[in-house]
Amino acid sequence: MTPSEGCEKHLSTESNSPMMEEVLIALSGLWLMLPALVPNSAAVLFGGGPPVDLGRSWRGRRLLGDGKTWCGLIGGCAAGVALGTLLMMIALPFDAQGLWGFGRYPEAMVVVLVLSLGSLLGDMGGSFIKRRLGRSRGASMPVLDQYDFLIGSMLLLLVFYPDWLLSNYWEGNRWIALLTVLVSVPLLHRGVNIIGYRMGRKDVPW
Ligand code: CTP
Ligand code: MG
Repeated sequence: MTPSEGCEKHLSTESNSPMMEEVLIALSGLWLMLPALVPNSAAVLFGGGPPVDLGRSWRGRRLLGDGKTWCGLIGGCAAGVALGTLLMMIALPFDAQGLWGFGRYPEAMVVVLVLSLGSLLGDMGGSFIKRRLGRSRGASMPVLDQYDFLIGSMLLLLVFYPDWLLSNYWEGNRWIALLTVLVSVPLLHRGVNIIGYRMGRKDVPW
């Protein structure tokens, strides 16, 4: 039984209508992506101190900029892994084998690490591109700002856990999970950034 079969088995029952099944797939798409959604918000809370690029420049421009710090990277990653662990613990009594799609323990822990780290690497990739295009720290770049972390997570999953990614976000009607994530992410991103801005943790509301 694959992890996603385990997930479906427990998320759906015989009496579920096709509509209900699709709603469950959409919800599971968001649920499984939470360890990739949280690290960037957590990085805002934990951020500060020495930048990841240690102030280095390339062709006259900063490699990443002061907005990417080691504390943000480590704290953000730890937050994603902590949340993933919590989600697996919630799923454990219901689906000990598949953990509602995360897969078998202990590989599921590595999946969560990949989701979390990939998200922060994607965010750094976005900053790298912004600096190359001459945009200063905090400058808005629509699409890239909203999707860089998701692209990072998905690419790292594609490298290390392609089966996990495809079985949860592509095969059969699992594209619904992918679509849900693609539609929700910009909305969540915007909402969280407005909160961060109001809390005084971010200079700009994007
Ligand atoms: N942050 C951090 N370390 C990271 C990611 C984020 O310390 N690896 C913190 C920084 O304080 C950053 C804030 O979270 O300013 C918001 O993150 P983000 O919007 O990604 O950074 P920006 O400051 O907008 O910088 P950039 O233009 O490079 O995206
Ligand atoms: Mg930004």
